[in-house]
Amino acid sequence: MGNLQFDPVVSRQVEMVYTTPDVIEQRRVVRTALALRPGDRVLDIGVGPGLLAAEMAAEVGPDGRVCGIDLSESMLAIAATRAKVPDGPEIELEQASAYKLPYGAESFDVVVSTQVFEYLDDVAGALAEIRRVLRPAGRVVLLDTDWGSIVWRSGDDERMTRVLAAFEEHLEDPHLPRTLGDALSKAGFTRTHLQVVPLLNAGFDYNTYSAGLIDIVSAFVPGRADITGEEAEAWASDLRNLAAGYFFSLNRYLFVASAI
Ligand SMILES: C[S@@+](CC[C@H](N)C(=O)[O-])C[C@H]1O[C@@H](n2cnc3c(N)ncnc32)[C@H](O)[C@@H]1O
Repeated sequence: MGNLQFDPVVSRQVEMVYTTPDVIEQRRVVRTALALRPGDRVLDIGVGPGLLAAEMAAEVGPDGRVCGIDLSESMLAIAATRAKVPDGPEIELEQASAYKLPYGAESFDVVVSTQVFEYLDDVAGALAEIRRVLRPAGRVVLLDTDWGSIVWRSGDDERMTRVLAAFEEHLEDPHLPRTLGDALSKAGFTRTHLQVVPLLNAGFDYNTYSAGLIDIVSAFVPGRADITGEEAEAWASDLRNLAAGYFFSLNRYLFVASAI
């Protein structure tokens, strides 16, 4: 697993970032790719704050099933506040690892995992578990960031490079999308869809993905790659002070594959 601890503080920060219009739009794209139908049985691996799980529960309706697992107790506590969805099944939450899913073979029609596989040190092991719990011809939907795609205007490019290098330590594989297609085929999946999901913030606004990311990065990087707390704060202020001249962009990659 990467080095970011999803403790109560970080879990709340992630929840806030994931309620910005940027990430709401990202979930809309993910749900289009999921193409859920009433009655579907879905598993969300690394359910986090439960925002996607709640939206999926409304889509599968009362005859469907939505299960969510996560390692983090604080994330599960947040997700529990969204577990009861009007006109949906109650979301079944459990503390478990992506490497050992607490379900029998062929339990699900669809498995989804967004922004989780980049934290895993055994992608092949996690994919084998997904294959086990998916029914034949079931679908897996994965979304991960390639942190090499980041474009972030800065008044100090040398410091930006060091801060981003330090932040990459929060993940097991900051460039996972480059190899995820190969990993899926090795695990016996057939890819049916691949798309890039870009994030773009031009002009500084607190209600955006990257404004929240600045807080998460500046809390994580001190003590890594020789970055001090003061330097991290200076990095963050520089970005916020760019105001209308602020510019951030990053790509996520969305894979859909079938267990044929
Ligand atoms: C960045 S959050 C994404 C949350 C959610 N999937 C979303 O997109 O809103 C990553 C989540 O993956 C969970 N996670 C990381 N490694 C895991 C593992 N090995 N098994 C289960 N969950 C894991 C973390 O606890 C955290 O909740």
